[in-house]
Amino acid sequence: MDYGVVKLIHQSAVTLSFLGFLARGLGMMADSDWVRDRVARTLPHIIDTILLLSGVALALQLRLSPTAAPWLAAKLVGLAVYIGLGMVALRRGRTKRQRTVAWIAALLTFGYIVSVALAKDPLGFLALLRGAG
Ligand code: HEM
Repeated sequence: MDYGVVKLIHQSAVTLSFLGFLARGLGMMADSDWVRDRVARTLPHIIDTILLLSGVALALQLRLSPTAAPWLAAKLVGLAVYIGLGMVALRRGRTKRQRTVAWIAALLTFGYIVSVALAKDPLGFLALLRGAG
């Protein structure tokens, strides 16, 4: 498949994943019933699978490996942290306070992953500071 198309799929999945996680967190805080609906619980898995597979496809097409490209390794570590925090935020957190803190931390982690992808640097947005200093 054309590289540009795969990249567009990846970027679209990134946007949908972010918006979905944002909405489910807001629903969680508002105790909304829709958060427990079948669609609200299934759709994120489909979007996140597309996100992951398109990312792997991009890396393969660029012949990148996490051992040779530190920014890709940083993305994968970030992804693992995001998944863990997301589980605490939407499922495992025992109090609403715990879930909310995990949700905010997950959103910040997501922002870090995006900035790593844009900067192609494991420091992500922090690399901008290095440039300024
Ligand atoms: C939460 C997870 C992820 C987020 C938020 C994310 C975000 C992004 C974004 C925003 C871009 C576009 C950068 C640009 O426009 O230059 C991108 C590109 C890319 N992503 Fe991801 N990504 C994620 C997961 C992954 C995974 C799991 C892989 C690989 C295993 C991956 C591999 C890549 C590659 C190779 C590019 C480079 C595309 C290019 O510059 O041509 N991503 N990612």
